[in-house]
Amino acid sequence: MYRLTGKRILLGVTGGIAAYKTAVLLRLLQKNGADVQVVMTRGATEFVTPLTFQALSGKVVHTELLDLETESAMGHIELARWADVILIAPASANFIARVANGYADDLLSTLCLAADVPILVAPAMNQQMWLNAATQENLEKLKTRGVVILGPAEGDQACGENGPGRMLEADELALLTAKTFETNILTGSRILVTAGPTREAIDPVRYISNRSSGKMGYAVAMAALEAGADVSLISGPVNLPEPERVKVTNVSSAAEMHSAVMQKISDTDIFISAAAVADYSLETISQQKIKKSSDSFELKLKKNPDILLEVAALQSAPFSVGFAAETENLESNAQLKLRSKKLDMIAANLVGDNAGFDVDTNAMTVFWKTGQKQLQQAPKNRLARNLISLIADQYNGKNTNKTH
Ligand code: C5P
Repeated sequence: MYRLTGKRILLGVTGGIAAYKTAVLLRLLQKNGADVQVVMTRGATEFVTPLTFQALSGKVVHTELLDLETESAMGHIELARWADVILIAPASANFIARVANGYADDLLSTLCLAADVPILVAPAMNQQMWLNAATQENLEKLKTRGVVILGPAEGDQACGENGPGRMLEADELALLTAKTFETNILTGSRILVTAGPTREAIDPVRYISNRSSGKMGYAVAMAALEAGADVSLISGPVNLPEPERVKVTNVSSAAEMHSAVMQKISDTDIFISAAAVADYSLETISQQKIKKSSDSFELKLKKNPDILLEVAALQSAPFSVGFAAETENLESNAQLKLRSKKLDMIAANLVGDNAGFDVDTNAMTVFWKTGQKQLQQAPKNRLARNLISLIADQYNGKNTNKTH
């Protein structure tokens, strides 16, 4: 199983007979959890019809740069922003030459210029075209710009010749695409993430909770996994599938989350507290369902332990990262929490009015003692990857300083 859950792949198809294999590749990417949008060059449509990819992906196939209808559905800049990665399979010699020279004369080449995400290119061409100095120079240019070239393989070619230039098989391409998300920046570190809301029981059928969906915490756990960490997740009640290869402990109340965290904390290098832990719980939980007999009644609440505060105050505290959901004065409140809870980092975002909670995108500012960084509005999984990369920078820096 490859790890492509939730990844947004822009699959570019250019003109070559190997385009028929891309139909299988599309299925495989989807089967492994990716969300795929297909963009075809005019040449590609000579080999496979857009309808094939449309039927397989269940989405409109994009072919035109300036087409009124498709631009109004999802414009080319929007499409470029949407993608987590651009995978071009097959990539013809002509397309490679155009991208290498910065052309933007059709939709796919324009997207390659407009997108700020990894570009993977799976060449497919006649062996002589592959070996030609012009093609090799173009590939070198692309590589120096960080474009990743996948393959090609050697062997029998559709033209009857034998040599390098065959497109890699669909399963190899899917695997290599999944691997580009594995950064290994936190290999060997043990990360504990909390996520979701907590539920504070009032009686056997009622509780106090909050609007946290757990999406951010789960995305952070996935991003930590891609960074090569050993990840444990302590989750409040959420409606999300359990991420693969993450050790999940399900809890309900803040007290349960507290004891689950404390049990694991001595085996933790980095603690990321994304859960929206209830600050208060009932002083006494009614054993029976409370009857609606009186016109009003009061619930007496007591303060819950602040899990993050306690963890960061431990003598051998892990690298501790908090979240601050604020409705006002974002920076000053976040800075105050960073200092008062003795955190290494805090990720702060504005909530309310449909921002932050229970939505798929978010924006945040991350603060640490010596700096801060604004992470622009983005899908939560991309934001989580950026956050993990900032955590890795600070965590690895702190550890290096310790040993010198
Ligand atoms: O002070 P405030 O509750 O806004 O701080 C939020 C941060 O503290 C979050 O990272 C949250 O997970 C953590 N927290 C906690 N235990 C609590 C309350 C908040 O760990 N009881």
